[in-house]
Amino acid sequence: EEKEGFVGVADTDFAEEERRKKSRLAFEGVRQELGKTYLPFLNGEYVNTTTFVDSLNPSRFSEVVGKIGLLSVEQAEEAMKFAKAAFPAWKKTPVKQRADILRQAGELMEERRAELSAWIVLEVGKPVKEADAEVSEAIDFCLYYAEEMERLDKGVIYDVVGETNRYIYQPKGIAVVISPWNFPLAIACGMTVAALVSGNCTLLKPAETSSVITAKFTEILIEAGIPKGVFQYVPGKGSQVGAYLVNHPDTHVIAFTGSQEVGCRIYAEAAILKPGQKHLKKVIAEMGGKNAIIVDESADLDQAVVGVVQSAFGYSGQKCSACSRVIVLEPIYDAFVERLVEATKSLNIGETELPSTQVGPVIDANSRDRILEYIQKGKEEAKVALELPAPTQGYFIGPVIFSEVPANGVIAQQEIFGPVLAVIRVQDFQEALEVANGTNYALTGGLYSRTPSHIEQAQAEFEVGNLYINRNITGAIVSRQPFGGFKLSGVGSKAGGPDYLLQFLEPRHITENI
Ligand code: SER
Repeated sequence: EEKEGFVGVADTDFAEEERRKKSRLAFEGVRQELGKTYLPFLNGEYVNTTTFVDSLNPSRFSEVVGKIGLLSVEQAEEAMKFAKAAFPAWKKTPVKQRADILRQAGELMEERRAELSAWIVLEVGKPVKEADAEVSEAIDFCLYYAEEMERLDKGVIYDVVGETNRYIYQPKGIAVVISPWNFPLAIACGMTVAALVSGNCTLLKPAETSSVITAKFTEILIEAGIPKGVFQYVPGKGSQVGAYLVNHPDTHVIAFTGSQEVGCRIYAEAAILKPGQKHLKKVIAEMGGKNAIIVDESADLDQAVVGVVQSAFGYSGQKCSACSRVIVLEPIYDAFVERLVEATKSLNIGETELPSTQVGPVIDANSRDRILEYIQKGKEEAKVALELPAPTQGYFIGPVIFSEVPANGVIAQQEIFGPVLAVIRVQDFQEALEVANGTNYALTGGLYSRTPSHIEQAQAEFEVGNLYINRNITGAIVSRQPFGGFKLSGVGSKAGGPDYLLQFLEPRHITENI
């Protein structure tokens, strides 16, 4: 079915000097605000905490972006009680009113676009151009889910003589959102506003390393008029507060984006019925990927090289959609690797505040150490085609390309979540598809080809949630490319797509004999 499109908001055009100036000024403003304390927000008030954690700039650790007050388990229990108390009124609030709060939040984010981008750059090390695109995505989620809920709210009516039939939706209850650091605004916002507009009271627990940005998002929801208790910001330790909320008998929906390990644990824990619990929990888990791009002998190599470099090294490979394997057919293998190496050498690495920068740091010391271990492992099982130097301050890792990687090698199977690309040689297209499908994941995938039969076969057999043909495999746009995977990449339907809100709703049917 052709959909008359939802049209998202536009990114900043950094070619315009005015825009670059606005961005520079936003950084100056945000720098004045560094190091402030951010507290949890419960039942319409900021509450004090006994423990705090510093959120640091991964490009420059001397910069404390903010201090975050961490919620205790007792406070998490209070938040749950507040959410329960707020639910009956929120459930009854007309959808139009709930949707308008999202639209207002979208408007406020547009007004604060340059500032929010600057916070993203400084807290999670995302280059500014991509941070700006992330703000667009967050706004789009607000506008799109507002529209979607209004569509669903119409329900389905089926009347016959003497009988009316109505198919309607009601909210499930309490939603717990556990958001990742890699899209600290867009994904946190998307999961949260989806839960809210569907009428659920929502608790947002962000990844520790991105708690300042979620505190900014909290400010926006407050200003947009979210009623007290309906939305609560609950930063805390995942192993304590996160686990407590997941296991709570009053939780109805858990929307999680993060690692496969944590996602699988949440899925298992949520399945256990707790004393007093009278419902089964719904889990939406977006987990990892080991995404591949196939380049066949008919591909436009210029296009393929650019697409692979962007997909593999944008945000240092820390997108769940990132390309970490490129599967290249024998006839063009050597030529492709040579051009890939040359193109990667020309990436701008370093200053995340400049619109021309493409590669920044990785998120933290754990991540850096894990990635460096994988690079070591890669050196044992494959050839180093390129290892670029990186700035020495901050958690920078220069892009690394391994060639002649065995399809079953560790670096070809495990998600690295860093700027490390494995190039795999295959003899024919059939083998390419087998290698592409030969992991536990099914998130994104790509094909560069000008052979119609290959394109057709990939559409049918390349097992991924989002397949991109002759373009890069990251940067899904709300509603245009609903995003999400299957196999061990996740459970639940696609973010920014027509089925997403249904996961937060309970369908009911009412027949009246008249
Ligand atoms: N939605 C993002 C992308 O498509 C990944 O989370 O790149």
